[in-house]
Amino acid sequence: MTKNGKRTGARMEHWTLDDIPWDAFDRSRLDPELVKVVKAACMVEHRSSEYAEYLCGVFKGDDQFCQDARTWAREEVQHGKVLRRYAELADPDFDFNSSFSRFTTGHIIDTGADQSIRGSRCSELIARCIVEVGTSAYYSALGDASDEPVLRAICKHIAADEFRHYKLFYTNMKRYQQVEHVHLWSRLKTAIGRIAEAGDDELSYAYYCASNSAEPYDRAKFSNAYAGRVFPLYRYKHVQRALGMSMKAVGIKPQGRVGKIVTALCWRVFRGYVRRVERIAA
Ligand SMILES: [Fe+2]
Ligand SMILES: [Fe+2]
Repeated sequence: MTKNGKRTGARMEHWTLDDIPWDAFDRSRLDPELVKVVKAACMVEHRSSEYAEYLCGVFKGDDQFCQDARTWAREEVQHGKVLRRYAELADPDFDFNSSFSRFTTGHIIDTGADQSIRGSRCSELIARCIVEVGTSAYYSALGDASDEPVLRAICKHIAADEFRHYKLFYTNMKRYQQVEHVHLWSRLKTAIGRIAEAGDDELSYAYYCASNSAEPYDRAKFSNAYAGRVFPLYRYKHVQRALGMSMKAVGIKPQGRVGKIVTALCWRVFRGYVRRVERIAA
């Protein structure tokens, strides 16, 4: 503990809900569409302890990593708690328990694995890096897009955690790569595969559950609705940094010739995708 009572050290959360300036909440600057996105994110973050169980199964014997993975999960769950509090403040009708129960019942996570579904520990850590790339870009974009001061402050705290999480998995990935020597193509395949999984059910189903809709779940409909709300928030700087971090995890220099071509190409593809989901959402 420091003199002012804040917790320090790599094994404790870097901030608490008391560090958020809740009194600065300004309803007049609230964007109801962003509140829907916050509700979905809060449910996904709340489930992170289940992923820690999976990681500790995959990294059995690596006690330090397992300890770090549990700390990581506590921080992710804290993201869920702070986002829940914000969602309840912004929308007093939001019933977290009911939405979360619906979400966990309808979307099951397999936590019983004793080896990585990615083929190696190095590849598992590349996949984890990609997830943190996604979340750090997501909260950076969400915070930058919001005019409401409390949401901006929350996103700033969470994004800082997500960048640190990336560093945690990246450092461990480099350590395992020295032993496992996973080929560049295999690393690239893992990264692309994990990026593609971002389009799977979890976020769109969370978005559906948070909306409290009485209609049956239609994956395409809610996936497009979610994408149409979230991806237009991303600016070039968010995408460029995310691509740079992804390439670094794979072993490609972002500032090299290949890196620059990949960035330019991906930005064009991304903008085309955003235009498409905006058209569908409209
Ligand atoms: Fe998180
Ligand atoms: Fe994270």
